[in-house]
Amino acid sequence: MNAKEPQLCWLTDPTVFAVNRLDAHSDHVCYRTPEEAAAGRSSLRQSLDGEWRFAWSKCPAARPADFWREGADLSAFGAIRVPGHIELQGYGEVQYTNTLYPWDGRAGLRPPQIDWDHAPVGSYVKEFTLEEGLRGQRVCISFQGVEQAFYLWCNGVFVGYAEDTFTPSEFELTPCLREGVNRICVEVHKRCSASWLEDQDFFRFSGIFRPVYLYAKPKVHLADLWLQAGLERDNTTATLTPRIKLEGQTRGAAVHLRLTDGEGCALYDGPVTGDTLELQGVQPWSHATPTLYHAVLTLADAAGEVQEVVPYDIGFRRFEMIDGVMCLNGERIVFNGVNRHEWNAEKGRAIGPEDMYAAIEVFRRNHINAVRTCHYPDQSLWYDLCDQNGIYMMDEANLESHGSWQKLGAVEPSWNVPGSLPEWRGCVLDRARSMFERDKNHTAILIWSCGNESYAGEDIQAMSDYFHAQDPGRLVHYEGVFHNRAFDRISDMESRMYARPWEIRDYLESKPAKPFILCEYMHDMGNSLGGMESYIRLAEEYPQYQGGFIWDYMDQALWHTDACGRRALGYGGDFGERTTDYNFSGNGIVYADGAEKPAMQEVRYWYAAPAARAAQDARNAAAARAADKALAAQWQARPAQPLAVVEGDGNLGVKGRGFEVLFSYTEGGPISLRTGGTEWLWRAPRPALWRASTDNDRGCGFAQRSAVWLAADALAKAPRPEILEMSEQQVALRYRFDLPAVPDAGVEVTYTVESRGALKVEAVYHGAPDVPELPCFGVRFQTAAPVAATRWTGLSGETYPDRYKGAEFGCWEETPRIEPHLVPQDGGVHMATRRAVLQQRDSRGRTTAALELQSCGAPFAFSALPNTAQELEAAQHPEELPATGRTNVTVLGAVRGVGGIDSWGTDVEEAYRLDGARDYTVAFRLMLN
Ligand code: GAL
Repeated sequence: MNAKEPQLCWLTDPTVFAVNRLDAHSDHVCYRTPEEAAAGRSSLRQSLDGEWRFAWSKCPAARPADFWREGADLSAFGAIRVPGHIELQGYGEVQYTNTLYPWDGRAGLRPPQIDWDHAPVGSYVKEFTLEEGLRGQRVCISFQGVEQAFYLWCNGVFVGYAEDTFTPSEFELTPCLREGVNRICVEVHKRCSASWLEDQDFFRFSGIFRPVYLYAKPKVHLADLWLQAGLERDNTTATLTPRIKLEGQTRGAAVHLRLTDGEGCALYDGPVTGDTLELQGVQPWSHATPTLYHAVLTLADAAGEVQEVVPYDIGFRRFEMIDGVMCLNGERIVFNGVNRHEWNAEKGRAIGPEDMYAAIEVFRRNHINAVRTCHYPDQSLWYDLCDQNGIYMMDEANLESHGSWQKLGAVEPSWNVPGSLPEWRGCVLDRARSMFERDKNHTAILIWSCGNESYAGEDIQAMSDYFHAQDPGRLVHYEGVFHNRAFDRISDMESRMYARPWEIRDYLESKPAKPFILCEYMHDMGNSLGGMESYIRLAEEYPQYQGGFIWDYMDQALWHTDACGRRALGYGGDFGERTTDYNFSGNGIVYADGAEKPAMQEVRYWYAAPAARAAQDARNAAAARAADKALAAQWQARPAQPLAVVEGDGNLGVKGRGFEVLFSYTEGGPISLRTGGTEWLWRAPRPALWRASTDNDRGCGFAQRSAVWLAADALAKAPRPEILEMSEQQVALRYRFDLPAVPDAGVEVTYTVESRGALKVEAVYHGAPDVPELPCFGVRFQTAAPVAATRWTGLSGETYPDRYKGAEFGCWEETPRIEPHLVPQDGGVHMATRRAVLQQRDSRGRTTAALELQSCGAPFAFSALPNTAQELEAAQHPEELPATGRTNVTVLGAVRGVGGIDSWGTDVEEAYRLDGARDYTVAFRLMLN
């Protein structure tokens, strides 16, 4: 719509979402000359990023309503950085909320209303002088992203209004510009009718958070460009249909196209006529070979003078549905994907190029071949990087109205927007159009997504129809039809989120018409990502299972100063906001600082080619066999030395060459273990019956159901031990633990001092009917002094029964540490361990003492952590964990998997749970000399 005067009521009118806004167009860059194009610096563009003047108001009534007038008094204005979020620069409130609208329980609103008393406004002012290259031409302004609605004035004249946070909004400034200094004023509103459509599960911000620039249009201008590229069935013949929209003095203007390959050889060098070009001998574009060709369009005016030069890299590929299977270049495709929000722990969603470069590196290193731009279009550079690196994209429109139809998990769409409401249709269609027009040239985009979790109706149907009508070369995705099958037609593929493997199997067995993908799966909240294998196997079994997108790429948390003055990663609620969903935004395969979580090795493995996985399996098996052999040989070679026993009143002492063990009659185990003069034990070892609950343990109710084990672990007690044997060859004692919290079950721990210089520890858990499932079973001890490093022979990284195949068998080292999940939880378990050495070191890093644990019989799992399970359980942030100077070494015979199907109900797969009725054992040796 066009209008000369701004109106505040547009904020709550869903039919008004763009006033005087220019048509959306492709994201190409126009250069004035070929030299500029080659150097990548356009004199036709002028950045307005940097410091702007700024005032914040809590609601429209309190805003400086006339700040846009010429000569307005701005003396009360402060400064703000553009691009950036208002809330991260000292104004307003940071709030994280998932499905509940931010005002839930504070204002009784229904779409399209807003709470006029709590609707913050940011008033921005920027002055500029046109740079040389823009002078004397038509000049427009481009806002790449403004959250959520804004009014624009230039030199006191109203220019326009726009919504849609995540696509560009552009306006023509020419009539209001003057020589010398110009002033633009932008009034950004955090709340508008579109707030009902931007209910994504993320931190809620506002402001100009993506770049702003001016651009000039020479007398003839290449306004829009679609290099529609195709690939014939032979996979070597390509087609190219350049569709070009010119503006200005178009009569007599001509566009020349030169298309070159990576070596600079021209495939085409000639005029653009509107005809389809046929090109021979092209390399198809795919993840494995992301071959791009370099197009340069040169626009000349009627006199033949070059006005603009536009470079664009394109690939040739064919994406289609063949017999209900999605195919790329004729072959079935499998998406080994990840959902990615734009995120940086300092800057929120105002990310920069370095964030994208870092992410693409992680993608490449870990065999991730696909990304869903959840749940909005990203910055353009990300699309370039995906083109270049062969990352298949699902480009998702900025639409989520989750809270309007799902209430505490239940589907209740009585006031769903957009639904089939005609007054919302234009707005959501505009979001589809803005995304399509901007992104259409990107080879990497295979699928358009209509948005996320907005239920289904005629309006989203119209988005899907739009994509289909515009673009025959791509498919359309929308998961929401799952909740409203009347609109199944919206999506070309059956898409689900967090469906369980067996549910998917049922679908695939039903001879379905549509292929299946998981637009979200493997909910990687905290210590998660267990059970990925079950999904990968589906892809191996069923051609119509075409992969999924892990939820999600990066933990969303923000660096802040906590109440104790420490720099900490804050999550929902840490900023004083309520309502919030706390740490529910911490689901990344990388932490908020970009470091890979331990689970990444599993992603890397399952997303690798099957042959690479098989090779890794074979290497691991061979290495494990060699380790077992070496261990057995070493044990046999150890000389036996007679033991000496001292029977005290409260302790039984056993001495051998270079060691001494004191078994207490009252403490439930040995209270002293000295090797070479070093005391290793703080207190007597105890049965390990609890692991600090993970987010998944809590989410599925396991931690609550099995909570007795927390008490049993903390408060187990053993009476005086039974002495089983006392000789020069061996001394054996057994402690029987009562578990008052779980009276039917019991634990026995048997210690045997062996004349070969070892303390063998064997523990048995005796299950009983109706006893809750266990988190783990083993033996735990605290060292008297901190362990500086742990070296082990076994699986790399952190492993659990449902997440270990990605590990490599070998010798590894780590410093005992707590994994920095947003909320502390269990971590650091190493499965299939043959030996582990605990080292104490001096300040210069030299090993001063070492204690070795060896497997006997079966390999064990272990962790060495600076905190106890109970300390971890009690902490809400890593900073709250106490420093005790002790290391907690837990040796496990059994541990529950971490799960990963979701974090709100689904338990870990049955094979990875520990049955309380069964018996479990663990055995290992502590080497004493
Ligand atoms: C999905 C949603 C995501 C995220 C996830 C849970 O329902 O699409 O945005 O909220 O659940 O982390």
